[in-house]
Amino acid sequence: RRPESTGHWRPLVRFTPESNWMNDPNGLVHYRGEYHLFFQHNPHGIDHANMSWGHAVSTDLVHWRHLPVALRPDELGEIFSGSAVVDEHDTSGLFDGGSGIVAYYTSAGATQTQSLAYSADNGRTWTKYPGNPVVDNPGFADFRDPKVIRHEPTGTWVLLLAAGDRVLFYSSTDLLTWTRVGEFGADQGAHGGVWECPDLFELPVDSDERRRRWVLVVSINPGGPAGGSATQYFVGDFDGRVFVNDNTPDRVLWADHGADFYACQSWYGTPGRRLWLGWMSNWNYAPNTPTRPWRGTMTVPREVGLTGTESGPRLVQRPAREVELAHGRRRRWRGVLAGEAKVPRFRGKALDISADFEVLDGLPEFGFDVFLGPRHRTRVGYDARAQTLFVDRTDSGEVGISEDFPARHETSLSVSGARVRLRILLDHCGVEVFGDDGSVVLTDLVFPSEEDDGGRGFCSGGRVLAELEVRELRP
Ligand code: FRU
Repeated sequence: RRPESTGHWRPLVRFTPESNWMNDPNGLVHYRGEYHLFFQHNPHGIDHANMSWGHAVSTDLVHWRHLPVALRPDELGEIFSGSAVVDEHDTSGLFDGGSGIVAYYTSAGATQTQSLAYSADNGRTWTKYPGNPVVDNPGFADFRDPKVIRHEPTGTWVLLLAAGDRVLFYSSTDLLTWTRVGEFGADQGAHGGVWECPDLFELPVDSDERRRRWVLVVSINPGGPAGGSATQYFVGDFDGRVFVNDNTPDRVLWADHGADFYACQSWYGTPGRRLWLGWMSNWNYAPNTPTRPWRGTMTVPREVGLTGTESGPRLVQRPAREVELAHGRRRRWRGVLAGEAKVPRFRGKALDISADFEVLDGLPEFGFDVFLGPRHRTRVGYDARAQTLFVDRTDSGEVGISEDFPARHETSLSVSGARVRLRILLDHCGVEVFGDDGSVVLTDLVFPSEEDDGGRGFCSGGRVLAELEVRELRP
């Protein structure tokens, strides 16, 4: 029997809807000092149905104010995923010479087409465009998730969407009329499942503005590295019409190696930094998520960058610096971890942990056990022999929501000088693990028992020197 409310799983910093179903983030836009977060939402129930855009706003990315549902199903269908831009100079003519937000979404009816809605009052009320749909479906079964960006070099708007096994590009000068100009991907990257929720942005490499690359992000379901859904990306060039991959077509790059980072989207309108967040779930078991009265969690907003590596520029992610606004009491510990040696136990269900390890002896497995209790633990660790970073949620609590939920997820991470740096965000029902300053990330949901919390360092098969800084996260 399920309890009516599972308050002990309600995240403090990560966004959740007040009640009912949520999946993908939608329409992320920063406008007049507010970060808007729209999301796939069922206003009437805990399952994926009646898809609408829920809405929340924040001025600091940490404290969210819930607002009424923004877009509801209509005669063209349910309101599936999409994006939003600011029409600063009224290029659409929708704003009587003023400015406003234009949102693009998939009308999911008998077929999938793309529609738009606009708001002249900071996203509080929306008008659906009478000329919808604005992008017709030429015959794809899957044809959805429009992402609109501004392409400054050509002074055009670009709309990209996922069409089964590829991304299609459209171009426009007025935000209303769209011409198909290119496509990418049928023979590139991972194809273990359908492509969904594309995103596209340009970033400097290692903050060097003279070295800029484009990043094309594509969610895929199934076929992810931890099973089920996941997010892949490509690094390359984009001229407003065609994306050219820097890497060979068979090179697959994953944004996250955990099981629960999907359909991520970046904010429009945050000059100087690229911020995104993802739906912290997996289509393998999202419908069985045991939280009540809500179902669905976002990751924390993360700042995304590119860093040069031997094989070319690769993504790095860090929690947005605003997460530090939630920092409370700080505790520190420095000492040697070895076998059963006594080490301090940290308490709390919402913690921001920075851990630096240096291997002293052997090729140990070490790290931090979190959500500890008499029967449970979630192990965040590094295996020095295999050179892998992992999250093991096999004994993490309620693991029966799907066959593949109890598992260890890992990714390779070679470190220099036997030093490993981890940042672990713990927030009631999951962990986000950033390794090596964010060059690898593992995001995993876990559902610990009420008595499980906090964590402590561990080490087996050798000795490590650990330096821990544990910050409480508070409202
Ligand atoms: C991704 C997705 C999108 C779709 C939406 C429907 O999780 O399947 O492709 O627009 O969810 O809710």
